[in-house]
Amino acid sequence: MITIIGAGKVGGDAALFSALKRLDDQILLLDIAEGLPQGEAMDLNHMLSEQGIDVEVKGSNNYEDMKGSDIVVVVAGSGRKPGMTRMDLLKINASVVTKVVDNIKKYADNALLIPVTNPLDPMAQIAFKTSGFERNRVFGMGGMLDLSRFKQFIHEATGKSRKEIDAIVIGEHGENMLPLTRFATVSGNPLPSIVSKEKLDEIFQDTKSVAAEVIKLKGATVHAPGNAISSIIENVVKDKKQVMPVSTNLAGEYGYSDVSIGVPAVIGKNGVEKINELELNDEEKEWFDKGVTSVKNALGEISS
Ligand code: 2OP
Repeated sequence: MITIIGAGKVGGDAALFSALKRLDDQILLLDIAEGLPQGEAMDLNHMLSEQGIDVEVKGSNNYEDMKGSDIVVVVAGSGRKPGMTRMDLLKINASVVTKVVDNIKKYADNALLIPVTNPLDPMAQIAFKTSGFERNRVFGMGGMLDLSRFKQFIHEATGKSRKEIDAIVIGEHGENMLPLTRFATVSGNPLPSIVSKEKLDEIFQDTKSVAAEVIKLKGATVHAPGNAISSIIENVVKDKKQVMPVSTNLAGEYGYSDVSIGVPAVIGKNGVEKINELELNDEEKEWFDKGVTSVKNALGEISS
């Protein structure tokens, strides 16, 4: 069973994509808001009936119902409003995530845990610490979302098919995110060899700032995060071992420990099966380091 805690727009979309991809026979939507997960489940089941897809979606307000879950996604918490940074949600969401993860520990202590709540990297670290799970079992979704935007800007800049684009975004899912333009390829050609330096800088900046623009225009980001969650789940349930950026606890990788931040990882049925260490140049390392400092400061603020 896949459990999604938080039945708002992103949680609902994660359930939608997971059901359409038939990632499990059972999907549970959990939320403290009475009626919301039940209504969302009904709506999704109606859609699935018409599609002829035998995935059952259930809505509940009871944490106990997640017993036996293989994967638990945590989307619960306040969302980013227009004009806010992800870090503005720090204190309010830290207590939500702690409470939710206490319940995961109680009812689904064999599950893989995918935090999504913002600010993502501090929340992933809190989820890791609160759960006491082995680190391969806790990996946050942020980089996959940043990657979806990075790929769209590369597509727009080159006019090439989206399928031909291979790229990665690492670092903080926040102000210091690191879209690695130097590592991106289009049809096997390095991106820096096909677009100008100015364009590369523009893609880099736009990838960082576009979520704020979407939030300003439509109030929230929904489909891209919902889909990115389902892509990570798919990698796990099909044991694909595809490399994806996830926010996971570092134990010496990239020179850091006791912090969760976006890194490229081999994802399979055991969660994070390997962290890939890329050779970053000085400028890239500076962004990565700034991200680590930002996440560590945030964690320090919560514990003080
Ligand atoms: C996003 O990047 C707000 O973190 C959320 O869409």
